[in-house]
Amino acid sequence: MPKTIQHEREAARTLARLLPRVEEKCKPQIEQDPQGWHELKTRLEEHFPRLFRLHLELYGDHYDYFYHAEDLLMSLTHAWFARPRDLRELDRLREGNPLWFQSNTMLGGVCYVDLFAENLESLRAKIPYFRELGLTYLHIMPFYDAPTGENDGGYAVSNYRKVAPSLGTMDQLAALSRELRRAGISLAVDLVFNHTSDEHEWAKKARAGDEEFQDYYRIFPDRSLPDLYEQNLREIFPDEHPGAFTFDPQMQKWVWTTFHSYQWDLNYDNPAVFNRMVEEMLFLANQGVEVIRLDAVAFIWKEMGTNCENLPKAHTLIQAFNAAARIAAPCLIFKSEAIVHPDDVVKYIAPEECQISYNPLLMALLWNSLATRKVRLLSKALAERFQIHPQTAWVNYVRVHDDIGWTFSDEDAAVLAINPSDHRNFLNEFYRGRFPGSFARGLPFQENPKTGDCRISGTCASLAGLEKALTEEGPQEVEFAIRRILLIHGVILTVGGIPLLYLGDEIGTLNDYSYLENPAHQNDSRWVHRPKADWDGYAKRNDPSTIEGRIFQGLQELIRLRKLHSVFSCGPLKVVSTGNEHVLGFLREDANEQVAVLANFSEKPQVISAEALGLPEEWERLHGRSALETGQGWRVEPLDFLALRHKVRA
Ligand code: GLC
Ligand code: GLC
Repeated sequence: MPKTIQHEREAARTLARLLPRVEEKCKPQIEQDPQGWHELKTRLEEHFPRLFRLHLELYGDHYDYFYHAEDLLMSLTHAWFARPRDLRELDRLREGNPLWFQSNTMLGGVCYVDLFAENLESLRAKIPYFRELGLTYLHIMPFYDAPTGENDGGYAVSNYRKVAPSLGTMDQLAALSRELRRAGISLAVDLVFNHTSDEHEWAKKARAGDEEFQDYYRIFPDRSLPDLYEQNLREIFPDEHPGAFTFDPQMQKWVWTTFHSYQWDLNYDNPAVFNRMVEEMLFLANQGVEVIRLDAVAFIWKEMGTNCENLPKAHTLIQAFNAAARIAAPCLIFKSEAIVHPDDVVKYIAPEECQISYNPLLMALLWNSLATRKVRLLSKALAERFQIHPQTAWVNYVRVHDDIGWTFSDEDAAVLAINPSDHRNFLNEFYRGRFPGSFARGLPFQENPKTGDCRISGTCASLAGLEKALTEEGPQEVEFAIRRILLIHGVILTVGGIPLLYLGDEIGTLNDYSYLENPAHQNDSRWVHRPKADWDGYAKRNDPSTIEGRIFQGLQELIRLRKLHSVFSCGPLKVVSTGNEHVLGFLREDANEQVAVLANFSEKPQVISAEALGLPEEWERLHGRSALETGQGWRVEPLDFLALRHKVRA
C-alpha cells in the first residue's frame, strides 16, 4: 500500500482518538461557541492529515509522540477559540480569495516602529501617509521585548507576546492591525523562530540548570560536537564570534548561536519547541497579523555532517507550521526570508510552505546592473529563475534593513564567462565607493578575511549615487542618481510580485553615520541604512523643486502605473532580448493588454530596434521620458524606465 494512503487512514484514526479528549478538556468553550467548534472540526478534517504526516515525519520516532500530537491539537484548539470574530470573518474571506496577494494593487512597505514614528500609537497616526503612498501591506520590524543595548535590531526576542515597553503594548498592536485593516492594509510581522534572545524565559531557565529547557536549545557540555559540526558550517556574523557556538560561563556549556552570541538557536528536534512556537505564531495571528515573515528559514534544522542550511527537514518544519495555520488561523500567509543560493531560495516557495518570498536575486542583480551598466545576468535570471508556482508570489525589493549579499548563482555567472568571486569582489569594491568611477557610498558588512566574503550596507539613495552627487558632484549626477532610484523601483513595480518599499527610500534618505556613536550599533554597519524617519524631508515630498519631491513624485507615477494596469499583477513574464547589453526588456501580458518594459541601465542614450519586442510598430508610451521615433530604432534615454503598451491589443 502506498505510504500516503496509510497516512490518511492513520491520520483519521489519530484524529478520531484525540478529538474526544479535546472535547472533554474544552467542554465549556465548545458549549459557548458550537459554531466555532464546528468550523474547527471541518478544518481539521481537511488539514489534519497533512499536519499529521509532517509532524509524524519530524517527531514520529519520539517515544512520547502521542503526547506531543495531543498537545499540538490542544494548542490549535485553544488558539482557535481565542480567535476574534472579525479575524474569523477575514479567514472566510481569504479562503474564498486565496490569491488576494497577487493583485497589481498590492504594494508593501516596511519600517521600524520607533524609527518611523516613535511607538505603536504614533505609528497609527501615520496610516494616512501609508494610504497616500498606496500601501496595502505593512511589515513592521521586530517590536518585541528584547535585551537592552545590543539586540540585533530586535531580532533577539525575549518574549513573543510582549511588546518592548518603549513601543507600547500588545493591545496597541492589535488595535493597529484593526485600523490598518480598515485602511486596506495587511499587517506583516516577524516570527523570529530560529532563535530567542538569551533573556527569553526558556533561556533563563536553561541557564539556571533546568534540563527541560536546556533541551529547547542546542547546548553541549564541551567542544567535541561543536567542533564536528563546525567542520561544515558557514560563519554568519564572523565579526562577533568565530564559528557557530558560544560558551556560556554560567552553565559552563556551549550554546549554538548561528547569529550573535545572545541569540540562542532553538532546537526543533524537540517536539515541545515546535508546539510552543506554533502557539506563539497563533498568538500573533490572533492579534490580527496576516503575514508572518519567517526569519532566517535556512537555518532552522541542523544535522551533523551537513552545513545545516536549507536541509529537507527545514521544509518539512515550515510546512508543518503552514498546516497548523490552515487549521487555526487560515488567513495567515508566510513570507520566507532565505538569503541563500537561488536554487535554495525557490524551494521554500509553495502554497503549502511559504506563499510569498523575498527575491534576493532580483535585488542583488538590479544593483549589479547599475554597477556594470549591463543586464546580462539580470535578463538570464529573470528568464530562467523568476517563474514560481502560480499560487505564490515574489516580494520584490531594492533595499531592506539588511545588507546586500551577492547571492547570484556561480553557475549562471560562469555561463556568461563571469568569474563569480572576482565579480563579487568588484561589486563590493564598487559599492564601497573604492572602484574608480563608482557612484556609490556603501559600507562593508561582515567582511571575512578568512574567506574574502563581504556584503554591503547603505541606503538605496546612497548606493545609487545621490550622496556622492550631492556632496562632490552636481546636478547632472543628482539627476542620474534619481533616475537610478526610479529605474530599479520601476522594475520591482512591474515585473510581477509584491513590490516592497523600504520606507525612507521613497524620499531618497541618505546614509546616516551617527550609528558610529551608538555603542549598541557601532559594530554593525547595517545601522547606516536604518535612520530615523526624516519628517522634514517628508514634508517636501510634494514639492517638485526638491530632491525628496522628485523621487517621491517619480515613485508615485510608477505606483499609479502599476495600480492602473492589471497586467502588472503576478503572472508570466517574458524576457526579450533588446539587442543592447545595457537595456533590459520584458513583456507582460494579460487578457486586457500587452505591455513592454525597457530599462536602460546606462548613463548614455541607447538605441534599440522596435522589432526586438517581437511586435514591431504600434506601441504607445505609458511611462518614461524617451520619445518613440520610428526609423532608425528607438532611442532610450539615459537610465530611463520605459513602459509601452501595444496599441493593437489595447
Ligand atoms: C534575519 C534578519 C536579520 C537578522 C537575522 C538574525 O536575517 O533579517 O536582520 O540579523 O535574521 O535574526
Ligand atoms: C540572514 C541572511 C543573511 C544576512 C544576515 C544578517 O542570515 O540570510 O544574508 O546577511 O541575516 O543580515
